[in-house]
Amino acid sequence: MPAGPGPADVHSALHSERGALRGEHPGRARNPVIKVSALGRLEFVKTDLDRAERFARDFGFAVHERRPDRLTLRGTWPGPACLVIHRGRNARFVGPTFVADSVGDVRRLARWAGANVLPYEDGEAVQVTDPSGLPVRVVAGLAPLAALPERDPLLLNTGAKPARINAAQRPPRSAAEVQRLGHVVLETTRFRQALDWYLQALGLIVSDFLYLDELRGRGPTMAFLRCDLGSVPVDHHTLAMHLGPRVGYVHSAYQVTDLDAVAAGGEHLAAQGYRRVWGVGRHIQGSQIFDYWRDPDRMMVEHYADGDLFDDSLEPGWAPMSAGGLAQWGPPVSRDFLGGRPGPGMVAALLKALGDKSNDIDKDTLHALAKAMAA
Ligand SMILES: [Fe+2]
Repeated sequence: MPAGPGPADVHSALHSERGALRGEHPGRARNPVIKVSALGRLEFVKTDLDRAERFARDFGFAVHERRPDRLTLRGTWPGPACLVIHRGRNARFVGPTFVADSVGDVRRLARWAGANVLPYEDGEAVQVTDPSGLPVRVVAGLAPLAALPERDPLLLNTGAKPARINAAQRPPRSAAEVQRLGHVVLETTRFRQALDWYLQALGLIVSDFLYLDELRGRGPTMAFLRCDLGSVPVDHHTLAMHLGPRVGYVHSAYQVTDLDAVAAGGEHLAAQGYRRVWGVGRHIQGSQIFDYWRDPDRMMVEHYADGDLFDDSLEPGWAPMSAGGLAQWGPPVSRDFLGGRPGPGMVAALLKALGDKSNDIDKDTLHALAKAMAA
């Protein structure tokens, strides 16, 4: 049965998105502790900052600040520096920083979580831990940066309404220009707990759920979460999370101007010898035109353009999880995108996840996940 009354249900009558069944997860908390307004920043540790800076420039970031032990990157749009890379022994993802509306919200979250509030940049921050064990920082007062110059979106001659007469189309053949951080995707063995935590603690709401076809009764196994700014439209997802045997970072995505920026930016990366993971294509959940790459530390990063923007009126869409359901068009999804060939690390993660009875991983979910990723 389709979802109950929704003010504006964009999911009905589309090819793969339907609403919830009666009694399924509502996709938002009744009374969240706070409502964060954006994903402000991601932090990583990398071993070689010179190499990280070369990749960052080829990917299309601007360097805000370079110190011996820290590289700070930004996009062209005004706002906080969106990426901080610390120098360290092992490359890893540190965690996300979300933006709170006020210092009052930071303090309220700190009281709820039993954590301390500390001064941070132009304001205050609290660091909390999600049910997967990931440190999550929430800040009011991330230092804003002024806009940088960027190229305008191309004027396109489409259909019967041409926008460009007596002028040639000449997009630059160069690195893309990253405009801003869009989203981060995480894998977790405790999907249900982590989902409910992000809805309750940070006030995120669900745009789309995916479920395992044979195990729908066990609830969703992937969620695309957006910020709740009421009637203000926001990205379809700033955080996406899926069930799996590993815990941690999957990829992060950065907005560029348009399709030409995605495609020409990809050619630039390929010419520098970097490895494409999957693309160019257009996603279903979020509709972004995407192109995925591996950085020199094998971390996955995405260029995207033309993503969906939703206000708070849309109910979650529900669709079965499948490899073929990740894109409307584009090349077949690569094995690399789906996690690569199973190696010793993967086997160890599987055994560890199976041995922990307090998480959502068991033989049935692993079998159904493997089936979904082959479908
Ligand atoms: Fe993505």
